[in-house]
Amino acid sequence: MMETPRSEQFDDIYFAVENGLAESRYVFLEQNYLPEGFQGKPRFTICETGFGTGLNFLCAWTSFEEHAESGAQLTYISFEKFPLSKADIAKYLAHWAHEFGGRLDRLVELYPLRIGGWHKIRVSPSVTLLLIFDDVNRALPQLDEPVDCWFLDGHAPAKNPDMWSEAVFAEMGRLSVEGARFATFTAAGFVRRGLEAVGFEVSKVRGYGHKRDMSVGVFKGARIREDGPMLPEKVAVIGGGIAGTSVAYVLQRRGISVDLFEPTGLASGASGNERGLFNPRFTAQRGNESDFYSSAFQQTIRIFETLSPHHDIGYERSGSLHLVQDDAKMKRMNGFLSTWDWHEDHAQLLDQGMAREICGAPIKFGGVYLPDAGLVSPYRVVQALAEDTVVIDEKVLSLERKNSSWIVNGRSYDAVVLCCAVHVIGFEELNWLPVSTVRGQITLIETETSCQSLKVNLCYGGYASKPFDGRMVVGSTFQPWLHDAEVREDDHADVLDKLSHVVDGFDPATAKIVGARVGFRCASKDRVAVIGRVPQTEGLYVSVAHGSHGLTSAVMGAEIIAAQMTGEVQPVPRNVYRYVDAHRFLDR
Ligand SMILES: Cc1cc2nc3c(=O)[nH]c(=O)nc-3n(C[C@H](O)[C@H](O)[C@H](O)COP(=O)(O)OP(=O)(O)OC[C@H]3O[C@@H](n4cnc5c(N)ncnc54)[C@H](O)[C@@H]3O)c2cc1C
Ligand SMILES: C[S@@+](CC[C@H](N)C(=O)[O-])C[C@H]1O[C@@H](n2cnc3c(N)ncnc32)[C@H](O)[C@@H]1O
Repeated sequence: MMETPRSEQFDDIYFAVENGLAESRYVFLEQNYLPEGFQGKPRFTICETGFGTGLNFLCAWTSFEEHAESGAQLTYISFEKFPLSKADIAKYLAHWAHEFGGRLDRLVELYPLRIGGWHKIRVSPSVTLLLIFDDVNRALPQLDEPVDCWFLDGHAPAKNPDMWSEAVFAEMGRLSVEGARFATFTAAGFVRRGLEAVGFEVSKVRGYGHKRDMSVGVFKGARIREDGPMLPEKVAVIGGGIAGTSVAYVLQRRGISVDLFEPTGLASGASGNERGLFNPRFTAQRGNESDFYSSAFQQTIRIFETLSPHHDIGYERSGSLHLVQDDAKMKRMNGFLSTWDWHEDHAQLLDQGMAREICGAPIKFGGVYLPDAGLVSPYRVVQALAEDTVVIDEKVLSLERKNSSWIVNGRSYDAVVLCCAVHVIGFEELNWLPVSTVRGQITLIETETSCQSLKVNLCYGGYASKPFDGRMVVGSTFQPWLHDAEVREDDHADVLDKLSHVVDGFDPATAKIVGARVGFRCASKDRVAVIGRVPQTEGLYVSVAHGSHGLTSAVMGAEIIAAQMTGEVQPVPRNVYRYVDAHRFLDR
C-alpha cells in the first residue's frame, strides 16, 4: 500500500495517493498547454514553487523528452525550503516509477545533498534541473532566467501564505516572458488578484476530479526571450591547474573545443599536491560566501563522483572534522550550523567523546563533522579533467584582439579564459587585479601511531589527512610574505607542532617525514575568488584567486563561466556571481 506523503511543517499532503500523478498531469501540464507549448521553442523554462517529491518535475521532464523538438532544451527551476530525503522521494514515487522510464532512478541518483543553496544538475542531454534549496521569497529575486511557464504548487495558501506572497507574484511579473503561462490548483481570490496585478490575465477553470476550480493565466507583459549568445566554437584556456582544467572539462562537455596552454606541465603550480581536502569555507552568517561555497561543495562532489569510477583520483568521501579549539571558532561554527541551512545528515556538532568515536583518534577537542567532505589527489584530478583536452606546452605572455577573435600565440579563438593564478596580472587586460601569492608548504609523514586508526580528515587551522598508502599529509603553512619555493625545516616543525596540539600522543620529534611540497596560492585583496567575464572586454574570462579552497571552488568557477558563455541558467544566485566578479574591484 502506498503511503501518502505529508508535510510536517504545513500539516498538508504533497499529493493524493490515489490520483496524484493524474492530478499533476492535469493541473500543471494540461492546464499550462503542455506539451503543445514546447513546440517551436529551442529553450523552454519552467519555474516551480515547491519541489517536494519531484513528481511535477518528473512529469514535465518525461513529457518534454517525449514531445519536444530534437535539440530543444528544458530548464526546470524549482524552489524547496524543506527538502525531502532521497529515500523518501524513492519511496513516495515508487508506485509510478514505470511511468517515468528510468527517470525516477536518475533523479534519486542525482538529487543533491540537503544543504541550502542552488544545485544545478544536468539530468539528461536536453534537461537541466536547477533545484534551489531555499525559501522562495529569498531566492527568487536572485534569479535572472526568463520563464515560459509557472507551476505554483506550494501547500494550500491558507496553510502556507508565505509561498503566495506579493513578493513572489512581483518576481513572476519580472521574470515572465510574453505569453508565459501559470497553473495552480488553488482558486483563492488573493492569489488570482495578486497575479492579475503583475500582468497575468487570470481565469478560473475546472479543477481536477472532485475539485471545483483551479486557476490559470497568461502573461500579457512585453518581455521577450532574447536569443542566447553565439556559442563559442573554440576556446583557449591559459593555465593547467585545477581552475583551468575544470574550465576545459565543463566546456568540452558542452561540445566546445578547447586548447589549454600550460608551459610547465599540468598541475605544476598550486594544484600539484599529492592530497588535499575539499571543504567549504565557513562563515558565521549566511550570505554571498555561504551561497557560493554550499553550491560549490555540492558541484565538486558531483564531479569527483563522476571522475572517480574511471580514474584513480584518490577520492575518499571520508568526512572531515573541524575541531573547535576556542570561543571564536565556536561562534563561527555555531553560526554556520544555525544559518547555512545544512541538514544534520551533512553537518553536526560533536562533543569530544563523540568526535573521538567518529574519527578513531585521540583528539583533544570536539568539532563540526561534515561526513561528505573528504580527501582527493588534486594532481590526479587535474590529469583526469584534462584527459580529452589538447594541451599546448607554451607560455602565453599576451593576448591580441583581431576583429572578433582572440589571437593566442598565433592561434585564433572565440574566447579566452585566464586561469593562470597570480600570473594573470602579467596580462594587460587584468594588470589592475589586486591579487598576490600566499606561500604554503605541506609535509608528508609516515602514518604515526596516534593516528593509525584515524578515519576522517582533521581541520584545526592546519589540517591532517586520514592515512592513505601508509602516509598522511599535514598542512599547511600560510606565508604571504615569502616567495621562495625551497622546502623549509621550520615549516615542517610548524605544521607538526600544530597537529600535536590537537591529537593526544602525537610527537613531532618522532614523526617520520617522507616528503614535502611548496606551492603558491593565489589570493585576492578581499580573499574572494575572481570568476567570470573580464569587465569591458568581450570574449575574455577569468578564474583565479581560489586561495586555500581551490579544490572546492574551481569547478564552480568553471560552471559560472560556462553559463555566461552559453547563456544557460546560472548555477548560483545573482548575488554570488556579482560577488565573485572582477568588476567589484573597479566599482570601488
Ligand atoms: C600547500 C598548499 C596546500 C593546499 N591545500 C589545499 C587543500 O587541502 N584544499 C583546497 O581546496 N585547496 C588547497 N590549496 C589551494 C589550492 O591548491 C589552490 O586553490 C588551487 O590549486 C589553485 O588552482 P589554480 O588552477 O587556480 O592555480 P595553479 O594550480 O597554480 O595553476 C595555475 C597554472 O597556470 C600556469 N601558468 C602561469 N602563467 C602562465 C602563462 N603565462 N601561460 C600559461 N600558463 C601559465 C602555471 O604553470 C600553473 O600550472 C593548497 C595550496 C597550497 C599551496
Ligand atoms: C505541495 S508541496 C509540492 C509538491 C511537489 N510539487 C511535488 O511534485 O511533489 C509544496 C512544497 O513547497 C515547499 N515549501 C513550502 N514553503 C516554502 C517556501 N517558503 N519556500 C520554498 N519552498 C516551500 C514545501 O516544503 C513542499 O515541499
